[in-house]
Amino acid sequence: MKNTFHLNFSTADHLGIGLFKYNLYPREKFIVTNSTLPQMLGHSSPADFKKTKLNDLFFDPKDWEEFSQILRKSGKVIFFEALFKNKENNPLWVAITASKITLKNESECLEGIIENISGHKAVEEKLAIEKDFLRGLLDNMPDAVYFKDRNNRIVKVNKYYAQGVGLRPEEIIGKSDFDFFPQEQAKRMFDDDNKILETGIPIVGKIERTLLPDGRWNQVITTKIPMYEKSGKIIGTMGITRDMTAYANTERERLEMLVNALRVVGKTLEMRDPYTFSHMRRVAKIAGNIAGQLGWDENRLLGLKLSAELHDLGKMSVPLEILNKPGKLSELEYRFIQEHVAKCYDIVKDIQFPFPFAETIYQHHELLDGSGYPRRLKADQIILEARILTISDVLEAMTHHRPYRQAVGVEAAGRELTEGRGVKYDSKIVDIVFALIAENGGKAFWMNGT
Ligand SMILES: [Fe+2]
Ligand SMILES: [Fe+2]
Repeated sequence: MKNTFHLNFSTADHLGIGLFKYNLYPREKFIVTNSTLPQMLGHSSPADFKKTKLNDLFFDPKDWEEFSQILRKSGKVIFFEALFKNKENNPLWVAITASKITLKNESECLEGIIENISGHKAVEEKLAIEKDFLRGLLDNMPDAVYFKDRNNRIVKVNKYYAQGVGLRPEEIIGKSDFDFFPQEQAKRMFDDDNKILETGIPIVGKIERTLLPDGRWNQVITTKIPMYEKSGKIIGTMGITRDMTAYANTERERLEMLVNALRVVGKTLEMRDPYTFSHMRRVAKIAGNIAGQLGWDENRLLGLKLSAELHDLGKMSVPLEILNKPGKLSELEYRFIQEHVAKCYDIVKDIQFPFPFAETIYQHHELLDGSGYPRRLKADQIILEARILTISDVLEAMTHHRPYRQAVGVEAAGRELTEGRGVKYDSKIVDIVFALIAENGGKAFWMNGT
């Protein structure tokens, strides 16, 4: 049995679809419509609507031309979208599906349906606006934005990213960070992406230095988040990276100015007490060498060196006759000297640095077992910077002549560190010192060139 489906007038009315039969030749006019079509276009009665011509319904004459052309060529139009105007001349999106029929008397007519698609169009337009908005936002952003799939392949980038790597966006799709950045750096990015894919935990505001293809270094701040599909499965990552180089340079310059100003203050001590000044310089050299083995960042290293260069600045307040006194100091004189720590801390405690400058100085005579001064701090209460500074200080002091004591030499200093290893002094740092001395052929590496 043949299956047939008849869309009759009442069914079409029920579905809200306009049905029409329109005479094209010899005279254009609506022959018949269902009641939905006139209603859709704001006419109160079919009779009133029949006075209208089809081309008058098109808002834009170009649409009518295109419609007629398709009809002439193929004899039918399928879901032709056009903007119509209703009786009040208000726009209305419709879709026309119709066929041309030639009758025996050579007259031509058009039969078909007109659907009101304004609702769909509104959603479509809203989506298009949102898409344009997002595209515009991404492309005008002075930040690199990139989307990657689960295999760390780039699926989308914005203009800024493309400019940064010197390629067109379409040349970047399907590639990975390994195609644009040095191996080590790309590996870090790869690890970060994989961590997000595994855990779903975003990485927010990570500061990193990036080597660009042209060899310049940039300082950037990156935030990466997981991308989910509807089911909740992570399908990739989205990242945004902001260039902070200019800001970082300004910060660096500010920091360097402050550091240089403090070095000048330190140098004033040289005039009064050249011994303490050169002691501090050598201690800074030892501390810098130790920290060099720890893979610290630039700022932390600078902080430790500066603390070392100024750690005994408080000795300015100690009378020279006590500082330079040969032989044993009295209890009172010793306590006077000990005060140099708190004095120096008082001078520098209000200076704002991105590293623990004042605290390192404050702790430089503290020992792990609590036998140090001034606060008798113990173990974990003592920061790593201070542990390094303490050991550097002991090493320098024992290997240089002091007014009240001859230099005892590297071997004796080594014995002191071995005895105090893990008791007074941080074991890891002591081991680094011995490794550095061994590397220097058993000699004091801080004496070279000083
Ligand atoms: Fe000191
Ligand atoms: Fe010292």
